[in-house]
Amino acid sequence: MSNELIQPNGGTLVNRMVEGDAAKALAEAAASMPSITLSDKQACDLEMIAIGAFSPLTGFVGPDDFRSICTSMKTSDGTPWPIPITLSVDDDVKATLSEGGQAALHHRDGTLLAVIDIESIYEHDKALEIPNVFRTEDEAHPGVKAVMDEGDWCVGGPIHVLTVTPEHEPGEQFTDHRLAPAQTRAAFSERGWKTVAAFQTRNPIHRAHEYLCKCAQEICDGLLIHPLVGETKPGDIPADVRMNCYETIIEHYFVDDRTMLTVMPAAMRYAGPREAVLHALVRQNYGVTHFIVGRDHAGVGDYYGTYDAQNIFDEYDEGDIDVTPLKFEHAAWSHRAQGMVSSKTFPKFENDQVFLSGTKVRDLLAQGERPPAEFSRPEVADVLIEWATSEAATPTA
Ligand code: ADX
Repeated sequence: MSNELIQPNGGTLVNRMVEGDAAKALAEAAASMPSITLSDKQACDLEMIAIGAFSPLTGFVGPDDFRSICTSMKTSDGTPWPIPITLSVDDDVKATLSEGGQAALHHRDGTLLAVIDIESIYEHDKALEIPNVFRTEDEAHPGVKAVMDEGDWCVGGPIHVLTVTPEHEPGEQFTDHRLAPAQTRAAFSERGWKTVAAFQTRNPIHRAHEYLCKCAQEICDGLLIHPLVGETKPGDIPADVRMNCYETIIEHYFVDDRTMLTVMPAAMRYAGPREAVLHALVRQNYGVTHFIVGRDHAGVGDYYGTYDAQNIFDEYDEGDIDVTPLKFEHAAWSHRAQGMVSSKTFPKFENDQVFLSGTKVRDLLAQGERPPAEFSRPEVADVLIEWATSEAATPTA
């Protein structure tokens, strides 16, 4: 049986890992190259490129792709891509680099991660990137702030990656669940899944999440619960606690041979609609055919309309994007229905539905209070309350 469920975005599954003698030679050569120390976000991006999750990108974008992605949500050759993946550097680092040369890319702990062939060095046009990608220029937006804080130059070119998991770093976490796109594709084929829905999340799994997942399971062969475990903003619940929640809910409430849990090592950008498209294309690379997009996907604060992240898919032409977005209304527990409902499935009554935001739940946890049963399965609430009342929990937002 073919393991090609769906073509990767752009048609080719990228693999930028270098192994064996070639890796040894590259590491030796890197010792005499100028060095760039990656930010956490850049290190996440590097891993995503290396394993093919960011296919068709083979490296950090050059000026033509940067401009094209910002203005048209496509690379310069017309492949859908909504957010420029940049390697920004400051003036001092830029002064050590030259076009046509190479640079060694280091983790902040000093580990040599990769080498980049420097095809271009260009001005980081933040005035173009920020309003296009984030639809706001407000520096209180965490994604905007991250770009504002980045260097004023970008380095573009393909990368050759030696390792993505330096020791003692979160990169090493979840090794059992850290499957590259080629591996998830093989796993889907092994299970005989032809249609697979992916569920992106950066929060502990709650009843509305579970409802979306189960609806998707009714129409697909399998479900990939695919939490983002790369860099998130302060105040978001740590990935290891969330993993515990996902494993717990699967154990108690999901059918084992219809459900897979693996991680996506990407950083969150909180870019709402554009990030929803990125999340969908990345999951297509992982081999999924359907992608869940609920209310305010990848949003933060009130920068985006509830369904902006669904409507953006209509800005692409028919056939541009192969993965099918599964668009869900805002779902909530209804006392009357004694179950999860949305405005599509149950009428509105006063004081009936329990709408709780992730922020509200974090506030409850910060006060040592259990999220209510209408919001969290009790087994998941146990995991959360245990973490919230432990010393490890130091909520900062
Ligand atoms: S996100 O940043 O990954 O989007 P979160 O983990 O909260 O945040 O959401 C995961 C997915 O569930 C997203 O597609 C989001 O739109 C969807 N979602 C979250 N809560 C609800 C809800 N109550 N109703 C419908 N969709 C929801």
